[in-house]
Amino acid sequence: MTPAAAVDRYAVIGHPVAHSRSPFIHRAFALATGQAMEYTRLECPIGGFEAVLRDFAAGGARGCNVTLPFKFDALRLAARRTARAELAGAANTLRFDESGWLADNTDGIGLVRDIEANARVAIAGRRMLLIGAGGAAAGALGALLAAAPAELTVTNRTLEKASELVTRHRAATDANDVVLHAAPLERCGEGFDIVVNATASSLHGAASPVDARTLAPGALAIDMMYGPAAQPFLAWAEQHGATGRDGLGMLVEQAAQSFLLWRGVMPETAPVLDALRRRWDETA
Ligand code: ATR
Repeated sequence: MTPAAAVDRYAVIGHPVAHSRSPFIHRAFALATGQAMEYTRLECPIGGFEAVLRDFAAGGARGCNVTLPFKFDALRLAARRTARAELAGAANTLRFDESGWLADNTDGIGLVRDIEANARVAIAGRRMLLIGAGGAAAGALGALLAAAPAELTVTNRTLEKASELVTRHRAATDANDVVLHAAPLERCGEGFDIVVNATASSLHGAASPVDARTLAPGALAIDMMYGPAAQPFLAWAEQHGATGRDGLGMLVEQAAQSFLLWRGVMPETAPVLDALRRRWDETA
């Protein structure tokens, strides 16, 4: 008999995780690149993350994606952390190396790739507004700074959290050429070329936490969410002359970076994003 574990196993672990599109994305990547692997969903009770993770790894799995609310625990439990995961304070990717678990965070680079490669908007030299200072914003800020905008303003309902995020990144990144500051929502500035919504405000029914004057004519306005949760922000952006974009491209791009970390192969993302959008339209 041949051993059953002929394919490498991965999963996305979260709570809730039933809605996750990661299995669809990674299976498509595996098929396109000829990688023998399996990717499933692992629903994990609150408080049960470490046990579920250890069980999965002990069963011979090679790595996993981690989603809310366990990204902070994932970083803590790893033996080694990439610099970008350390800076974000959270991990969305684990690789179960024999020498110990490696934690990475591919959310920020995923967002940058979506803006630059998919939306075809260069970040370098532009004025950016990042709305939010929670886990999603923290995951993105380091990569956004590395893409060298002229200015990056972080705005948040709770100003102290934006200030803390800015201070941490100013110390840790070579952001000297980027004018980086924190500002309150109602006085965060005007005329930004790229506006990223990393808040959960849409879930509370508000279209946007900031005034429409934040949008330069023809600005790119991205909500990190996708599906119905992103719609109010996207409609608001379009109403005010901006191009709205949801977080589906970021989702596919961050997945591609995880896939690269695990498999050493960079998958093509455009066909998978197209397939996901078609599938989404059919089921929406
Ligand atoms: P996530 O991991 O998704 O970022 P989080 O860490 O809880 O979740 O952060 C949620 C973010 O959305 C925060 O920036 C939060 O603002 P506060 O720091 O002031 O709490 C923001 N947020 C949530 N609801 C909001 C609302 N109704 N209006 C504006 N900002 C909101």
